[in-house]
Amino acid sequence: MNADVFTLFPQWFDWFMTQRHVENALALGHTVEAVDLRATTPLKWGQVDDTPFGGGAGMVLRVDVMEAALRARYGVDPVELREQRRVIALTPTGRLLDDALATELAREESLTLLCGRYEGFDERILEHFVTEQVSIGRYVLAGGELAAMVVLDTVLRKLPGVLGDDASAIEESFSEALGGAPEYPHYTRPAQWRGWAVPEVLLSGHHARVDEWRREQSRRRAEGPLP
Ligand code: ADE
Repeated sequence: MNADVFTLFPQWFDWFMTQRHVENALALGHTVEAVDLRATTPLKWGQVDDTPFGGGAGMVLRVDVMEAALRARYGVDPVELREQRRVIALTPTGRLLDDALATELAREESLTLLCGRYEGFDERILEHFVTEQVSIGRYVLAGGELAAMVVLDTVLRKLPGVLGDDASAIEESFSEALGGAPEYPHYTRPAQWRGWAVPEVLLSGHHARVDEWRREQSRRRAEGPLP
């Protein structure tokens, strides 16, 4: 997976790149690069945004600035780029990120994530340059950077070899393996703490019974709302 994130704050990603699972992904040959929108702006003084036509509060990321950044990176017209790879704008109103979307994105060879700031993107970026919009929840962040990190976090951990044990990313909450249900509860040592006991079945060493208990717990959690 080669993931590029277009942002006004590339340094935000320095921290992200040092997280263990991200480091593991990079060591396996995957790439995550933060591309600075200011580095290729055709405007003076590093300008990247402008006031909205029609008036109103806030600033809007300019379409010419985004086009210059995408052309510089990929050497093609961004209108054609979206035929070649998924180009995702992070927006509060986009398709909600869930496990199915993360699994879908983890199958891609390459991803381009665009982070807006302030009032967001000039609509022409969304109409002509991107394949889709993705949201991490129905609330508004100051920019798309944290959302891009959330997307990359959940996508990268699904790549084979990135987690210590690949099974961790297969049987987990909302996964296909659990029929989309929340994961079953986990316990570890000590088996007794302040009188709070670990369910007996988990100490039994009886794999089939453990399995059955876990599926049942998972089903039960799917019925009620999550706390
Ligand atoms: N940009 C601003 N808010 C966002 C959100 N909730 N999800 C994705 N991108 C965003």
